[in-house]
Amino acid sequence: MKLQHIAFIMDGNGRWAKKRNKPRVYGHLKGAYKIEEVVRWCAQKGIKYTTFYAFSTENWKRPKSEIDYIFGLLTNKISEFYGRMDKEGVKLVFSGRLREAGEKVYSVCKEYEEKTKNNDRIVVNIALNYGGRAEIIDAINKIIKEGYSSIDEGTFRKYLYKADIPDPDLIIRTSGEKRLSNFLLWQSAYSELYFTEVLWPDFSEEELDKAIEDYNKRQRRFGGIK
Ligand code: IPE
Ligand code: IPE
Ligand code: MG
Repeated sequence: MKLQHIAFIMDGNGRWAKKRNKPRVYGHLKGAYKIEEVVRWCAQKGIKYTTFYAFSTENWKRPKSEIDYIFGLLTNKISEFYGRMDKEGVKLVFSGRLREAGEKVYSVCKEYEEKTKNNDRIVVNIALNYGGRAEIIDAINKIIKEGYSSIDEGTFRKYLYKADIPDPDLIIRTSGEKRLSNFLLWQSAYSELYFTEVLWPDFSEEELDKAIEDYNKRQRRFGGIK
């Protein structure tokens, strides 16, 4: 099946910095720049959709200084990132409980979604204050408000944050952890999973190619038989 959507769990920024005797936030800075490179590689390879897990609903457990730095990066870096990505035809979208991340974050996200809405080379979905369980609960609450008494899967998916983005074909997690950590729980039902020991700031085009090669060798059956 053609690889249309790759989702990335960008993990290992803190360990990457620690290995270099730098503060954790230095890893987040390097990690933020990495997104831009990965988007470019994916666009060149003809991938139509990418999702990047930037901040989870559980990451609020971290020290306030680290949280502020991550959101600061997102709100400042985006404007720098925007000009270059816009030229490359990137449509930027954001998924998560954005309002709960603060008015500033919310307005920046909406501004860039609006600015890039007509680009169509590649979709870059940034999962921000995102939790798979929160997304399901948010969908259920919208469904209740609309007055449904029962629904089917097709209707349910229309209430997810980005209903028009197809499920990820491939989910790549860096840093050696082998779990989803509350990422795309509904959408990952039949995703292929790829884990690499490489820490996110070190993620390279060779690593991406390895993951894609691995994906291409797999047989996706979706419960059927070949
Ligand atoms: C991933 O890197 C980025 C976020 C979760 C925001 P980490 O910050 O989790 O890095 P490690 O796992 O501590 O090395
Ligand atoms: C997952 O990484 C979240 C993001 C990459 C944003 P974590 O580092 O938060 O995950 P756990 O705590 O190791 O499961
Ligand atoms: Mg981590």
